[in-house]
Amino acid sequence: MDIECSPRENKLFELIGATAHAMNVSCYLVGGFVRDKILGRPTKDADIVCTGDGIALAHAVAAALPGRPQVNFFKTFGTAQFKLNGFDVEFVGARKESYTTDSRKPQVTPGTIQDDQLRRDFTVNAMAISLNKPDYGQLIDPFGGITDLKNKILRTPLGPDITFSDDPLRMMRGIRFATQLGFTIDPDVYEAIARNNERIKIVSQERITDELNKIMAAAKPSVGLDLLFRSGLLKEFFPQAVELSGVEIIEGKGHKDNFYHTLQVVDNTAAKSEDLWLRWAALLHDIGKPATKKFEEGHGWTFHGHEVVGERMTPRIFKQLKLPQNEKMKYVAKLVALHLRPISLTKEDITDSAMRRLLFDAGEEIDDLMILCESDITSKNKAKVKRYLENFELVKQRLKEVEEKDKIRNWQPPISGDEIMVLFGLTPSREVGVLKTAVREAILDGIIPNDYNAAYQLLLTKAQELNLKPVSGE
Ligand code: CTP
Repeated sequence: MDIECSPRENKLFELIGATAHAMNVSCYLVGGFVRDKILGRPTKDADIVCTGDGIALAHAVAAALPGRPQVNFFKTFGTAQFKLNGFDVEFVGARKESYTTDSRKPQVTPGTIQDDQLRRDFTVNAMAISLNKPDYGQLIDPFGGITDLKNKILRTPLGPDITFSDDPLRMMRGIRFATQLGFTIDPDVYEAIARNNERIKIVSQERITDELNKIMAAAKPSVGLDLLFRSGLLKEFFPQAVELSGVEIIEGKGHKDNFYHTLQVVDNTAAKSEDLWLRWAALLHDIGKPATKKFEEGHGWTFHGHEVVGERMTPRIFKQLKLPQNEKMKYVAKLVALHLRPISLTKEDITDSAMRRLLFDAGEEIDDLMILCESDITSKNKAKVKRYLENFELVKQRLKEVEEKDKIRNWQPPISGDEIMVLFGLTPSREVGVLKTAVREAILDGIIPNDYNAAYQLLLTKAQELNLKPVSGE
């Protein structure tokens, strides 16, 4: 084998080769599996191309395997798939596409392995390994995929305009591979992306977002986000992010380019956390800035309330990008809303009460919020960054102390609404809310400690003001 496989993989590939031979067809390992094996990256699926009926081959192989895995197949696409010990194996018949001059619609007909390789997205994804008797295990690399892998470059087997018109999602895939693998996009290929960017519109948002999330999950998402921006792809599906870019200068005063600032914050966050949604919060943290931007005479640029606008924009953006409409969205919106709070506590004379309020409002999200807020400290002035980070450490320390003392993070009222109703013989009503809020505010303000007795005494006083009496006569 020209690639190194595990004994289990070798056994499976030998079986596939032998089964194909018995059916009188040729078959090959192809695509990402070959690429990743050569790169020494982990693999979780393998694509098999055969010159013939891929669905029939999949069924024959599955039938010969212990446990006979179930084959899923799609007749219209001529593809079949089964899972073997968590490993995904996909089969397809080799295809050839021909474009007639009067139509851009390809006609798909059965083809050879070379035809099939030619219509794949990138040369590094178009390498095949033969599973056939005469040349079993040999690499078939008609477009110099190996050289491109070595040089870390993404090129297309055909002219890039043709490759991208075949499937415009490949423009996103190229940028995703460049981000994930640290590869460069060949200049001609990049220009083709910039030229064809509007074509991404014909691709479903789910597929676009799938690639975007892979970019966000990479070690340095800014690489892909910047390529998406500069190639003009980003404006096609996420114009709000593009709005962040640029610098305006009035009376000699400029503001920072919020797009590139955001990319820096995303990278800083990515360096501290693998969490995709925390990274999304970083991407959206300043999304409300363009809508709130103002130049105030004698003062400079302001973005008052951008965190509130950003919080409101989040559900709309999630919907537009077909991101989940669930607690993940709420989590991102909450972090966007709170992203300025921790840094506002770096000023002197901050009371414990302010610390408690942040712990209460952030709740379970406090650690993630601190990561986001720390990542938001970006400036070209190194001394300034250092000073901010040092102050930020102090805030972290104080939050820890206040939390240890007052246990606000997972705060539950020492007397619940139900208990209040029983105590004062109330049905659900405005009064219950008033009493509950009074207890919460007094604890957060440090007027009473976070315990039952103190809360009970406070309730008695408050109840009197509302002309309420405890039913037990206490
Ligand atoms: N492919 C393609 N055009 C696409 C999608 C896929 O030409 N739009 C081809 C490529 O040869 C690719 C193979 O199909 O290598 C398998 O695709 P897929 O499993 O989606 O991607 P991988 O390259 O395996 O990479 P990853 O698993 O990281 O998505």
